[in-house]
Amino acid sequence: MIGAGHSVFGTRRDVNIPELCWESMKPALEKANLEPRDIDFFVVGNLGIWSSELAVPSIMAEYADLAPKGSMRVEAACATGSAAVRVGYTAVKSGLADIVLVLGIEKMQESPNPSVIELIGRFGSYFWEFENFGLTFPGYYALHASAYMMKYGATEEDLGKVAVKNHFYGAKNPFAQFRKEIDVATVMKGPYVAWPLKLFDCSPITDGSACVILASEKKVKEMGIEEKIWILSQGVGTGTANLSKREEFTSLASARYAAEQAYKLAGIENPVKQLDGANVHDCFTIAEIMAYEDLGFCKRGEGYKLAREGQTYIGGRIPVNVDGGLKAKGHPIGATGVSMAVEAYKQLLRRADKGRQADIKNGRWLTHNVGGTGHYTYVTIYGLEKR
Ligand code: COA
Repeated sequence: MIGAGHSVFGTRRDVNIPELCWESMKPALEKANLEPRDIDFFVVGNLGIWSSELAVPSIMAEYADLAPKGSMRVEAACATGSAAVRVGYTAVKSGLADIVLVLGIEKMQESPNPSVIELIGRFGSYFWEFENFGLTFPGYYALHASAYMMKYGATEEDLGKVAVKNHFYGAKNPFAQFRKEIDVATVMKGPYVAWPLKLFDCSPITDGSACVILASEKKVKEMGIEEKIWILSQGVGTGTANLSKREEFTSLASARYAAEQAYKLAGIENPVKQLDGANVHDCFTIAEIMAYEDLGFCKRGEGYKLAREGQTYIGGRIPVNVDGGLKAKGHPIGATGVSMAVEAYKQLLRRADKGRQADIKNGRWLTHNVGGTGHYTYVTIYGLEKR
């Protein structure tokens, strides 16, 4: 990865779709010292169902002078951005392309919230769960949260501590949607969205884009690029659509599978000792706690204790979501996985903002991006050095 760029996340009525894409593409191209004409192939992660333009690759080919290069629009629910990274990574690794631009973009606020929430709900199991029960995502994750609390004794305050941490770091991230610190009392006072999840347990509805540029080893050598990180491995898992087909509600099988693959390929046996930090999919606070366990940062049933004890702040057992996570940075669905890749680039190259730079000792960073409620999970390990 030789370049990375990020737009400001939030309510972006000030820009249209191509302008929002360019906000992250421009700095990514500049970091890589490339012009659009140098790109061999580009991938766009975008759901787009709530916004005006669906042909984003072609819109950007026109706007950014990328035509007639090949392109692809990719979708994997909330893991869309990581699926786009996967397509770019496999294109480079297979030798089909030397330089690939990967863009994630979503402009969710072009539709009213109730429509957006209903459309996200279609990424569960429409026939069994949406049409029959009207389940949308806060409801899905409320099921996970209540099952987890009942099984392990976690409290609403424990969930709230995840939000407090992520707002703490979001306040230090100039690209975040919410740049305000909160305390547990604020979380507890918030209105219930779906019990036990309250407003501050939820990620918001967001407009934003993120971009990374991937290059082959040959190109990296030819261009003499010094500022770069490597994709060491990527694991991908798929879960059942219908929740009733799953064995349990307190863990995501697709995440455990993806992590196992990614760890094996990158030679990671002890993630807490071998990684410097992680970005995990905290679409709801309970999702971050389940991720700690699915990724092996602690034993099963102990994730909430990491939150309770503040072990995932910088200086703790392992820093997690020190860019604010989906909770405070925002969750523009197609852009989220790419935004995580941008954060890995910044952290490993020690370019993160003041107060949110982790200690880089091992030179390895993990990203965990979940689509649906574990319908798809991508776990990617990035490294400062090639393996
Ligand atoms: N956290 C904190 N504050 C939030 C927030 C969040 N997640 N979402 C909205 N707010 C704030 C807004 O800034 C606004 O504050 P203001 O009145 O001071 O301006 C206020 O709450 C109302 O915002 P609004 O956008 O009208 O909220 P809403 O009630 O329509 O939607 C949720 C709130 C939580 C229901 C909605 O954001 C949601 O569904 N989030 C989950 C999205 C999702 O499922 N993504 C996929 C996950 S896999």
